[in-house]
Amino acid sequence: MSRSGAVEQRIAPSNPEKPRAVLFDAYGTLFDVYSVAQLAEQLFPGHGQQLSVLWRDKQIEYTRLVTTSNHGAHYQPFWDLTRAALVYAIKKLVAHADATGVGSQFAINFQTQFGTRIERLLDQYRHLSAFPENHQVLQALKARGIPIGILSNGDAAMLNAAVASAGFDGLLDHVISVDPIRKYKTDPEAYALGEQATGLAASQIVFVSSNAWDALAATWYGYQTLWVNRYQLPFEELGTQPTRVGSSLRDVLDCFPS
Ligand code: LAC
Repeated sequence: MSRSGAVEQRIAPSNPEKPRAVLFDAYGTLFDVYSVAQLAEQLFPGHGQQLSVLWRDKQIEYTRLVTTSNHGAHYQPFWDLTRAALVYAIKKLVAHADATGVGSQFAINFQTQFGTRIERLLDQYRHLSAFPENHQVLQALKARGIPIGILSNGDAAMLNAAVASAGFDGLLDHVISVDPIRKYKTDPEAYALGEQATGLAASQIVFVSSNAWDALAATWYGYQTLWVNRYQLPFEELGTQPTRVGSSLRDVLDCFPS
């Protein structure tokens, strides 16, 4: 921490030391957030793909909105933002809410028409599929004696449910949620939680994320980073590269030769 109390941003070394722990982002990295597209398509034919993308984008936008506005006065847990983002996506893509679509009659009709489908999608989100290679990778790290954990925007209840339904119980040394500090990644205080939980410096930890913005901000914070680029996307154009780039979670094993 600096004297002003703010957490300092550090630049990751270009020649990183041998890492001693791994922290994973959860949503998009361990759990496949776009796996809801299939159910979304079933419930909203013709809109599934677009709906799942807008839902995710809006969810992340809301995390930034509540973290950066009014010193966090409007913070809501990730589960609540997830629900709000889904409602927004349905209103935009399916219900076509216009300027008059905000009155109480609209709210009642919306709930009647979409309430059940919203709950079904949220239930699916609570039990997202894990990417197929993940379980084996976590087991391999564990077998090599590497401490592993999650560092996520998700609140504890949703993380615990996702961990259990993915069968990751007993594999993780840390499940770290930003919820107690009421600040979402990319706030540096959120990344600092990983150091506090492991007792290691960020430079000794590999932070793994499939979200380019998350890999970038973790690199800025000082972590060694692995960006798992599952969808052959360009990295963020802000002048910093992650320490490593891979195409699946398996690539984290290269950091720890057995
Ligand atoms: C998380 C989201 C941002 O798990 O992917 O933190």
